[in-house]
Formats: sequence, structure tokens, C-alpha cells
Amino acid sequence: MTWLQGRVLENRHWTETLFSLRVEGPKLAFEAGQFVRIALDIGGERVARPFSFVNPPQDPVLEFYGIEVPEGPLSPRLLELRAGDAVHVASNPAGFLVLSELPDAEVLWLLSTGTGLAPFLSILQTETPWRRFRNIVLVHAVRHAKELVYRDLIRQKNVRTVSFVSREAHPGSLAGRIPAAIRDGRLEAAAGLRIAPDSSQVMLCGNPDMLRDAQAALVERGLKKHRRRSPGQITVESFW
Ligand SMILES: Cc1cc2nc3c(=O)[nH]c(=O)nc-3n(C[C@H](O)[C@H](O)[C@H](O)COP(=O)(O)OP(=O)(O)OC[C@H]3O[C@@H](n4cnc5c(N)ncnc54)[C@H](O)[C@@H]3O)c2cc1C
Ligand SMILES: NC(=O)c1ccc[n+]([C@@H]2O[C@H](COP(=O)([O-])OP(=O)(O)OC[C@H]3O[C@@H](n4cnc5c(N)ncnc54)[C@H](OP(=O)(O)O)[C@@H]3O)[C@@H](O)[C@H]2O)c1
Repeated sequence: MTWLQGRVLENRHWTETLFSLRVEGPKLAFEAGQFVRIALDIGGERVARPFSFVNPPQDPVLEFYGIEVPEGPLSPRLLELRAGDAVHVASNPAGFLVLSELPDAEVLWLLSTGTGLAPFLSILQTETPWRRFRNIVLVHAVRHAKELVYRDLIRQKNVRTVSFVSREAHPGSLAGRIPAAIRDGRLEAAAGLRIAPDSSQVMLCGNPDMLRDAQAALVERGLKKHRRRSPGQITVESFW
């Protein structure tokens, strides 16, 4: 692995803590859904963290979607970056939250919390999902309505969208959390599609507690973890 030099083109602030960093320079080969480590030199040390690509592989400008974790060493610095600033990008993208690992199915469910939306935006900007799945459902769960980001991009895609806003009432979004809505049928009702092992592939990304609880709810519905040697329907990526 080597470090490549990137330059910030833009740092869009959606809220006080949410940002999208557009970076030019590094030329990387990756598959939509993968991540790469990005780094800054802080106090003489290179501090690196994995970030999922938001951009599709064919886009020469890299895009990352992040949240400031105030006590974290890197994310507060990323939030502060401005156009022209330097950022290091690792040369070796990686990750298994990719469609090439998934069996075909009728419905592709993409379940995310917070910044876990990022890899699904990359996937949705490729043509592969529409070639392989009859229906695609994008689910994004956030605490507050203002965190429902990238709505314009998502509206341009032929994807059913279900949002959750958990800490305030928001018309058009479901209340509460994804696992409860899998169990009580509200998620399927909102999407107009069934979650079932014979018709669904489910990718999940974001908060590890959501991943654990949602997987348990999916297992109760007869789905199981997807493995190369033992195909199933559930593929996850934890952000921490
Ligand atoms: C495979 C992978 C892909 C990732 N992709 C992204 C991405 O696209 N966007 C992104 O913002 N982060 C992503 N992360 C998390 C990211 O690598 C950092 O952990 C995060 O930016 C915080 O960095 P930090 O150094 O400030 O704090 P850290 O020391 O890394 O984290 C401190 C704590 O912050 C919380 N935390 C970390 N990341 C998040 C998050 N994304 N949302 C809410 N709470 C969090 C956790 O409680 C964690 O223990 C990814 C992580 C992994 C493993
Ligand atoms: N979002 C903010 O307003 C904010 C502000 C300042 C700093 N931060 C930083 O960002 C971090 C959190 O990031 P985030 O807001 O993206 O967070 P998050 O805590 O992952 O919440 C995102 C969504 O996931 C849901 N969720 C949490 N645990 C779940 C579970 N077990 N099962 C199903 N759903 C679950 C949350 O519901 P619940 O609401 O029910 O938990 C919320 O709807 C904090 O640790 C903090 O450092 C966030």
C-alpha cells in the first residue's frame, strides 16, 4: 500500500456535523460499495480511517460522506477541511459490501443508518443493480430529518425509498428503528414489497447495534448470513 496525494475540491456541510468531501487526484480502481482509508497528518502522526466511496467507480472525483464524532481524532479535522487542502488517500480500496458478492434476487434491500448510506449511493450510481434486481429499496434511518441527505440524487434513481427519523416526528418518514419495523411489518408496508428468503437480498451498513438487531429480525424471517461457501441473503458492513 502506498499513500496517494489528494486535494479537496469541495467540503459541503449539510448540517453542523455532516459533511461531504470531494477529493481530486488519486486514481483508484474499486467496486461500488467498497471503502478506502483516508488520512491527515496530525501532530506529526498520520491518522487514517476507512471511508466508503459515495462516487461510482467511473467518476474521477472521489466523494466521501462523513459525520463529526467530536471526541474522535480524525473526523473533526475532516469536517474543517477546505478547498485546496491536502488529504492522503490509500492506494488499496477494499471491502465485501459489493454486488459482485451477492446472488441474484427479485428484491435488493439496502438498509442504512447515518453515514452508512454512503456505499449504497455509490452502488445506486452504477447500472448493475437495475440489471440484476427487479426492485431496489433504499432505507435510510437517521435521528433528525435534516440528516436525510442526498435526496436530489436519490430521487433521480428508480429506487423505492423508505426513511426513518427516530428523534422527532417527520411526515413522510417512519418513526422508530429499522429492526422493529421489520418485525411489525411497517417496513414491508412502506416499501410495498415482501422480505423473504426466496425473493430478497439484504445489504446493511452503519451502526453496529442496528446491524446486530436488524440481522436478528431478518433471521426470524428465515433469512441467513450470506457466505461464499454457504449462500444466504444478508450482507453487512459495520462502520465501528
Ligand atoms: C469499513 C468502514 C467504512 C467506513 N465508512 C465511513 C463513511 O463512509 N463515513 C463515515 O463517516 N465513517 C465511516 N467509517 C467510520 C470512520 O472510519 C471513522 O471511524 C469515523 O470517521 C470517526 O473517526 P474518528 O477518528 O473521528 O473517531 P474514531 O476513533 O474512529 O471513532 C470514535 C467513535 O465514533 C463513533 N463513530 C465512528 N464512525 C461513526 C459514524 N460514521 N457515524 C456515527 N458514529 C461513528 C463510534 O462510536 C466510534 O467508536 C467507516 C468505518 C469502517 C470500518
Ligand atoms: N446525529 C446527531 O445529531 C449528532 C450530533 C452530534 C454528534 N453526533 C455524533 O455522531 C454519532 C452518532 O451518529 P449518527 O447520528 O449517525 O447515529 P446513530 O446513533 O447511528 O443513529 C442513526 C440512526 O440509527 C438508529 N439506531 C441506533 N441504534 C440502533 C439499533 N440498535 N437498531 C436500529 N437502529 C438504531 C438511531 O435510532 P435512535 O435515535 O433510536 O438511537 C438513528 O435513527 C454520535 O456518537 C456523535 O458522536 C451526532
